Amino acid sequence: MIMKNALLDAFYFRHACKLFDDSRKIPQSDLDFILEAGRLSPSSMGLEHWKFIVVQSPQLKVKLRHACSDQPQISSSSDVIVILAKISDLQPDSAYVIAQFSRLNLPPDKTEEFHQFYREFVQNRDLTDWSVAQCHIAAANMMTAAAAIGIDSCPIGAFGTDQVRHILQIDHNQYEVALVLPIGYRKHPQPAKHRLAFSDLIEFR
Ligand SMILES: Cc1cc2nc3c(=O)[nH]c(=O)nc-3n(C[C@H](O)[C@H](O)[C@H](O)COP(=O)(O)O)c2cc1C
Repeated sequence: MIMKNALLDAFYFRHACKLFDDSRKIPQSDLDFILEAGRLSPSSMGLEHWKFIVVQSPQLKVKLRHACSDQPQISSSSDVIVILAKISDLQPDSAYVIAQFSRLNLPPDKTEEFHQFYREFVQNRDLTDWSVAQCHIAAANMMTAAAAIGIDSCPIGAFGTDQVRHILQIDHNQYEVALVLPIGYRKHPQPAKHRLAFSDLIEFR
């Protein structure tokens, strides 16, 4: 277990970094550590709704920057993690869902019961929104993991979905673009953090 203060330090260190030092590259072992935090994230019904594309090519980064309101975080970063949210795989009777549920090793009737619950659960839901929400959890974990080892990040929600799909040749039936997450090392000191007070946000009942 890590110390509470070490974790809090990571939360204070993390900020939406607006410009990275483009001369610094994240070592592969640190990148793997950050991606592992994403991979190990929780997901509704264990369906691991994400796929991570790590963009390292300078040419692709420039194209992505244009697709993200020209935000310089993208092209100055060391790596851009594009988080894709599964869509077609989440259809109730897809091979993916069947495989994910069968790895739970439940007795056959319990597997079918769970599967039936899933069919009803997805009926009243926007699958894409649900999938994107799971991806944001993975993004948060990756940002915290990065901060814990002194690496900066900036979640980017201002992207043109069709443009990002086109640049990365993503099939729109298969994936929605959930978030664009450039990571690297800050160029400038971080600004003051503004947050509502504990008492404004938290109620104990
Ligand atoms: C889903 C999401 C999308 C965001 N999109 C952008 C963005 O496109 N550009 C940007 O500079 N920051 C973006 N941010 C960062 C927020 O603006 C930032 O987290 C917030 O203002 C609080 O500041 P801090 O993270 O530096 O503490 C986004 C954050 C989230 C969670």
